[in-house]
Amino acid sequence: MALANRAIGYDEVVTRDLHFTLTPDMVDRHWFNRDPWATHWMNAILVAVPDGERWVMHSARRQLDKLQDPKVHKAALEFIRQERIHAREHDAMNALAVAHGIRMDRLEQLFKRIRKGLQERLSDDMQSAVAAAFEHMTATISSVMLENPEVFDDTHPELAALLFWHFVEETEHKSVSFDVFCDASGGGVRGYLKRTGGMALATVIGFPLLVVNHAYLLYQDRQLTNLRSALYLADILLRRPGILSGVFLHYLPYYRPDFHPWDDDNRGVIRVWKQEFEKSGDVRLAYQALRQAKGRPDWRRPVLPAA
Ligand SMILES: [Fe+2]
Ligand SMILES: [Fe+2]
Repeated sequence: MALANRAIGYDEVVTRDLHFTLTPDMVDRHWFNRDPWATHWMNAILVAVPDGERWVMHSARRQLDKLQDPKVHKAALEFIRQERIHAREHDAMNALAVAHGIRMDRLEQLFKRIRKGLQERLSDDMQSAVAAAFEHMTATISSVMLENPEVFDDTHPELAALLFWHFVEETEHKSVSFDVFCDASGGGVRGYLKRTGGMALATVIGFPLLVVNHAYLLYQDRQLTNLRSALYLADILLRRPGILSGVFLHYLPYYRPDFHPWDDDNRGVIRVWKQEFEKSGDVRLAYQALRQAKGRPDWRRPVLPAA
């Protein structure tokens, strides 16, 4: 365990009880880059967000009494508060897509059934390991998006603001589920096997589900044969900004015995958003600050803890 990395990041986790005033025109039918395949790829992930957030909250809550480290305990409580608010706001966002006739609600029900089945069969430690794995993937996607905010230039500003608030908070708490798992499970070889088993399980469930969700949404939207849009999505996923290649780059290190989420210290990026939000309290301006900061020489410089 990279103990030095465990010491960082906890003071970053802050609950912001934000309410976004989303209306149907803000969540366009093809809200991401005005592109069907790219939008439905994002929707395919967002289907699992509200219930997935409640699941990771629940799994952290069940481990609270086993935690030895008071810092991990405190961060876990803050993490639960953050995820509760994320779930609420993403419920509203998904409902607006449904209002456009995009039947994400059917896929949400499918995800809930799979989640309930896993919850009934898995121990608290294994649910915690799966939660840590999903949180690592979420943090990795957030990291790619935060470093490429221009990808959202064609997205409604309020919706981009919601997504970037979420990306920032996913980064703030990116080590919490991992540390909750390590602290509660006791670590060692058994802990390592459970942690990596959780990632393997999250992968074999999550990836096929993403493909199925995507195919269903495209079919339902009569876009399955839109080749131009498919090529555009392939470009976004693999080349610019390379969302999928970015995830893959951070996927394998998770299997290292000494891996820790803060091995990749990207606090410098979220600090840009946070400084603007602390000054103005405006999530749209905070997103714009991030948008303008890209390319500065100090863009990803880690923020060192105060002496
Ligand atoms: Fe979240
Ligand atoms: Fe999260």
